[in-house]
Amino acid sequence: MKAKLKISNKRVVSKIDERIYGSFIEHMGRAVYGGIYQPSHKTADDKGFRNDVKDLVKELNIPLVRYPGGNFVSGYKWEDGIGPVSQRPKRLDQAWKSVETNEVGLHEFYEWSKEVGMEINMAVNLGTRGIEEARNLLEYCNHPSGTYWSNLRIENGQQKPFNIKTWCLGNEMDGPWQIGHKTADEYGRLAEETAKVMKLVDDSIELVLCGSSSDQMPTFGEWELTVLDHAYEHVDYLSLHQYYGNHENDLEHYLARSLAMDEFIKGVIAMCDAIKAKKRSKKVINLSFDEWNVWYHSNEQDKNVEPWQIAPPILEDHYNFEDALLIGCLMITLLKHSDRVKIACLAQLVNVIAPISTEQDDESLAWKQTIFYPFMHMSNYGRGIALDPEVESPTYATKDFNEVPFVESIAVYNEEESIVTIFAVNRSKESLDFKVELSGYEVMEIRETIEMAGYDIKADNDVNNQVVKPSVKENVSFNSSDVLTSLSGLSWNVIRCLVKE
Ligand code: AHR
Repeated sequence: MKAKLKISNKRVVSKIDERIYGSFIEHMGRAVYGGIYQPSHKTADDKGFRNDVKDLVKELNIPLVRYPGGNFVSGYKWEDGIGPVSQRPKRLDQAWKSVETNEVGLHEFYEWSKEVGMEINMAVNLGTRGIEEARNLLEYCNHPSGTYWSNLRIENGQQKPFNIKTWCLGNEMDGPWQIGHKTADEYGRLAEETAKVMKLVDDSIELVLCGSSSDQMPTFGEWELTVLDHAYEHVDYLSLHQYYGNHENDLEHYLARSLAMDEFIKGVIAMCDAIKAKKRSKKVINLSFDEWNVWYHSNEQDKNVEPWQIAPPILEDHYNFEDALLIGCLMITLLKHSDRVKIACLAQLVNVIAPISTEQDDESLAWKQTIFYPFMHMSNYGRGIALDPEVESPTYATKDFNEVPFVESIAVYNEEESIVTIFAVNRSKESLDFKVELSGYEVMEIRETIEMAGYDIKADNDVNNQVVKPSVKENVSFNSSDVLTSLSGLSWNVIRCLVKE
């Protein structure tokens, strides 16, 4: 079998917004306590944050982290997490039936985020709370000084404003499980009024309006149209959330879930633009895919978790090789839509459905799940301009899609380094001859070639064994306008070429 990717400097999708490589830390499970923060761990710094976790997080080169939830935020009092730690209350978190100690709050998380090089994408509670608490939080974070909330921030040790630029107006407010769940009209009005007031406090911020919790929600579509109708002129992004799983143990179907993501994104863009037209607005609403990942491996074990524990081990999916391949397909899909998807957050970052895991002791070091690698490659090498991919590939059919291309691929041009990076997944079990035709770029040299291939699709990693990991890809040749290789059956591939434009 043969496949081809054609790219040209004349056909670009968009300059990629680096926030498309965002992630997410929620106060739930062992994401914060026992994840990023564990004062008793042998690598803990003087504030209690684990250095081994920080090191792995830095390898992922994540520019933006959504915080503090998730479902958690809809019952959260952000004021519980400021001031002297010894005086902070322990609270019941109804979202995850856990106990929140509030040892880590805004200041601690901000300092951690700076150390690992991330901006915060802050979510406000529009479940149990509203306009006033969101306004106060923003004033606390971003106002320089001289008011009650900004002075309190300074008293608590932070002279300069946190200057948080991206804010989420609640979380999954369409979901009946959400604390303070609302109808589309109720949420649309609240979000509109909260957005207005927040932008009066700081007009440099950008706001994300909640879209549906997944495209399978019964209210999907109606929800988007209604909330946009209310809040369109006051917000900047609409959110999408979607988790995938190989529930039927059907590899071909599973690896085609990125086509479902593609349809989801196209549908939400159409709805944003329909409301733009209806309102005769000049403004374009872009998308924030602020929760996406594989999530299903831990579903059964989570049924047995006792309620009201501190940092219970929940949502601790153990990812395998087929999950890594799907993550590659999903990331390529996000880049294909980088003209409209400006923010995306891999949910989540540590222990909870995460690329990084820790054990429940003070000695073992954090380790990399299989999905760590495609995310790391994309985040590090996928900066620049996404080139519109014209892919010629044989296809296969699934119950949902008649034509699933065996090859999923895209290329990114990084102007500063004069590098074109090609990312490709081969969904077929057979190897494929793969030719990349470049127009407008002269290939000077192949700088680096990476592949993940040859593993059992169910192979996974653990604290002692990094079974699934990248290796150098062999057999890549080139001439000035083509790159030639073969893609191993079921493989993730990265080819980095030095080019002259
Ligand atoms: O990421 C885990 C949970 O998934 C989040 O708290 C929620 O927003 C979503 O349902």
